Order: sequence, then C-alpha cells, then structure tokens
Amino acid sequence: MKHKSYSPTKTDAWPKLQSQADLVNNLSIVSLFDADSARASKFSTNTGELFLDYSKNLVSDQIWQELLNLAKQSPLTEHRAAMFAGEAINTTEDRAVLHAALRAEPEDASSENDRQRIALVKQQLAAVKLASEKIRAGQWLGSTGKAITDVVNIGIGGSDLGPKLAVNALHEYSHPSIRLHFISNVDGAEILTTLKGLNPETTLIAVASKTFTTQETLLNAKTAIHWFERTLGLKDAQTSSHFIGLTANPTNALAYGIQADQILEFAEWVGGRYSLWSSIGLSIAISIGFEQYSNMLAGAREMDLHFQQAPLEQNMPVIMALLGIWYSNFLNAESIAVIPYCERLLLLPSYLQQLDMESNGKATTLAGEPVNYNTGPILWGQTGTNGQHAFFQLLHQGTRQVPIDFIAAAQDGLSNDEHHRVLLGNMLAQSAALMSGQIAPEGQQHRYYPGNKPSNTLLLKELSPKNFGALIALYEHKVFVQGSIWNINSFDQWGVELGKKMANELLGENATNAEFDPSTTALFKYIADNS
Ligand code: F6P
Repeated sequence: MKHKSYSPTKTDAWPKLQSQADLVNNLSIVSLFDADSARASKFSTNTGELFLDYSKNLVSDQIWQELLNLAKQSPLTEHRAAMFAGEAINTTEDRAVLHAALRAEPEDASSENDRQRIALVKQQLAAVKLASEKIRAGQWLGSTGKAITDVVNIGIGGSDLGPKLAVNALHEYSHPSIRLHFISNVDGAEILTTLKGLNPETTLIAVASKTFTTQETLLNAKTAIHWFERTLGLKDAQTSSHFIGLTANPTNALAYGIQADQILEFAEWVGGRYSLWSSIGLSIAISIGFEQYSNMLAGAREMDLHFQQAPLEQNMPVIMALLGIWYSNFLNAESIAVIPYCERLLLLPSYLQQLDMESNGKATTLAGEPVNYNTGPILWGQTGTNGQHAFFQLLHQGTRQVPIDFIAAAQDGLSNDEHHRVLLGNMLAQSAALMSGQIAPEGQQHRYYPGNKPSNTLLLKELSPKNFGALIALYEHKVFVQGSIWNINSFDQWGVELGKKMANELLGENATNAEFDPSTTALFKYIADNS
C-alpha cells in the first residue's frame, strides 16, 4: 500500500491548496456566482433520490481542481478497493472493514470469499427477519404467555445510536402498537424510569453489544434481570423469552445465560459504529418491518455502488469529504455543523458524532507516526428551525468558521404543505443569508452580516427507508475518504480505552487507595462524603 511513504502534505496538491488558502480573503461566494452562471449546476450532483448542492462553498474552480488532485494523489482509490475486497485495513486490530458486505447482494461478489461472506450475512439477516416478524405478529410470547408490546434495546455507542436514530427517523413506517425504547446511559435514572412505565409480562429486552463486555450495557441488563425477578418472580430472567442477545460474541452471550436460539449474531468485521446494518438493527426491523429494513439496506447498497463506481468529480462522498478537508486543513475550521430541517432527524448529529469523531479523531498515521496536520473536525448540530433560535446567531455574526450541512426531505408524508413550505423556506433562507450577508446601516455595526459563510444542502426526495440508508452510507463513506487522505486508521477507537481502564480502577475494591491526581482524589472524596 502507498501509505508507507504517503503523507497528504507531500502531495503536489497540498502546497497549491495552501497558496489558494492564503488568498481566500479575496474570495467571495456571491462573486463566484456572478462570474459563472453555471455554478449552481456545476457544483451539484445527485445519486438515487439524493441531491447535493455544494455551490455555496468558498471554493473556486481552481481550488476544486486542486482538491480533486489531492484525492487522486492520495491512496484513496486503492484504499477503497482494499476495504471492499475485505483486506485488513483496520491495521491496529488486524481486521477487515466490511459493513458494506452487510447490504451487498450476491451479484456484487467478485471472489469466492465475497460469495461466502454474503451468504453468511443473508443467513444472519434471515434470523433477524424471523425474530422481528414473530415479535411484530404477536407470536413472541413472554413468560406468562402474553405477546410482546414493548422492546427495550439496551446498548451503547454503535449498539444504540444507529438503531435509535433509524427508529426515530422512520417513525412514519413504525408498527402501530409495538413500542421501542432505547437505554444506553449507565445513569440508573434512565433505565429505572423507563422500566417503571412498562409491563414486564409483555416486555422484551434486546441486549445489544458487539463484544458483550461493555460495562454500561451489562449493568443495565442486570437491572432489567432484577426487575423481572422482582415483578414476575422470574429467576434468571436472562434465560427466558424476555431476553434476546445481539452480538458478535455469542460465547459471552451464551455464558451470560441467553438462549442459543435467541442470540442473533453478526461478524467481527462489522465495526460497532457501522452495526445498524447487522443484527444490532433488530429494533429497526421490529419497528418498520423487515421489508422496509431491507429497503434501508438497499439504499445503503446503492450508495456503496455509487461510491465505488462514480468518477471522483461526481462522487458524493468524495465531494463532501474534500470540502471538509478544505475547511479543516486549509481554512482552519475547527468544527462542522449538521443541521437537518426535519425533526425526525434530530438524532442524526449525535449519530454522526460517533461515526465521524470516533473514526477520524486520530493523530497517528497508518505508518505509526504523529500527524502534522489537522484530522477529524468537531461535529455538532441540531435541527432547524430550532437551531435558528439558539446558535444561528454565532453562525451569522460570530468569529468562528463553521461550514454547515443542511439536510431536508423535499416531500414529507407526515407533514402538510403549509408546514413543509415554511420549514424548507427557512432552510433556504438561512443558507442564502449566510452566503450573501448584509452591510450594516450607518453607525450600526451590530447589524452587519459578513456573509461568505459556506454550506452544503443535501435534499432527499423523501425520508424513506431507502433514502435514509443512502444518507447514512453517504456519511460513512465521506468519513472513509477523509481518513484515507489523512492516512489514519478510521476503524479503531483506542482513544476510549484509557478512560475505561481508569473507571475500572476508580470503581475497584481498593478505589479509595487508588493513586489519582489530587483533583480527582478530592472530587472522589467529596462524592463519597456527600452520597
Ligand atoms: O467504547 C467505544 C465502543 O467500543 C464503541 O466503538 C462501540 O460502539 C461501543 O463502545 C459499544 O460497544 P459494544 O457494542 O461492544 O457494547
């Protein structure tokens, strides 16, 4: 692989982009439109039912060409081929990265390994279909013979964020009477409050954990086990029909007591933050039905094919990644805001935080060297129009550079014409105002809008399962492209380990004697004295 000697800063394109960045104060997005009547169509692209307008960016034709050159001079295409071929591109864990195989069809296979992998995935999906259909049909019975009405997904990180986002986003398709609940935080108030409102006889707990070792998930599951014991007198509830395990570690789930035929497996080559396409997505299939869940996978597959086949200049994930690199590496933007004008996508920013920041929040190259350039940005966001009445002030008049992704559905079956027109009108007004700005009336500098603030606008024809799948896969591949250009491993997460280890030490039997820094020791003592 090229990565041994590659550094993005050593490409021909990098210094040219730096020179362009030095001149950026002379660049006005509005002037770029004035100078080129074709800009809006030139800087837009579509795939499936997704349309991306990226014309409102601080990018001239010349800058765009250099960004494309940067992609071409990086190991991106090689790295992409290696990922889809199942090579162990997660080098620090010596693992393949094959979430795309979870939505692949047999005709996508280009080797015997691919064929076997796809066959295994189909088998695992069949188990998801069987379980979800049984639950939806009222045939999955609790220990007292009653049908399930409430499903509680206990998981955290990738074992929570994706399913929770999808169930919320695809609410329009949800089962009329089965309710889904998501417990992630080890904060006992969350699970205890949720369980209080449920009938144990008709509740199913899905313990979702790739490793089946996660502290928060296992403690929440234990609390649920005790709840069944307390309320139904059920001993070892984890062995009953009230518990199902979703995991890549069936050995641990079995040892935990979950029945073998109630463990839905997925493969180790599925990263936690990419697992909503695997059996971790059971709650999605229960909510919207297996057919619609399959449509979600099909949408993601369409994006996989687009990502693999479209030329770089029309490749949506590549385009979004290059724009992010322009702002992060050359214009020193610290963050990116994702603002969906769709309340059902409220959880998208927090989902993308794990996807992007756990993947690209790294400072070591694939060759094991420290990086000397910026990598993943801080990703944040909130829905519009709510955000307009909160943080948009800073976006319009603050001192920070914050590129924005606006996201919306052109049609909305759950809304009506009036609401939807006002919602989307607001989004368009914001991106236009951020770009054009406004001069201040004489002596009223506080009313100055500098403008020239960049944004992308991503439109889905509608928020269908298929388009939702494509949207998520788009961001997955965007993150992949950036990681390839930055020459980092986007697929491990060593950064979360030290805190876990120190929490274990702090919670261990000898915790009071543990050697922590004076601040932590004082805080620990304050809590002990006041609890
Ligand atoms: O600690 C981070 C992490 O490993 C995430 O990558 C993962 O999604 C989450 O914890 C939960 O892990 P698991 O699914 O193994 O419980």
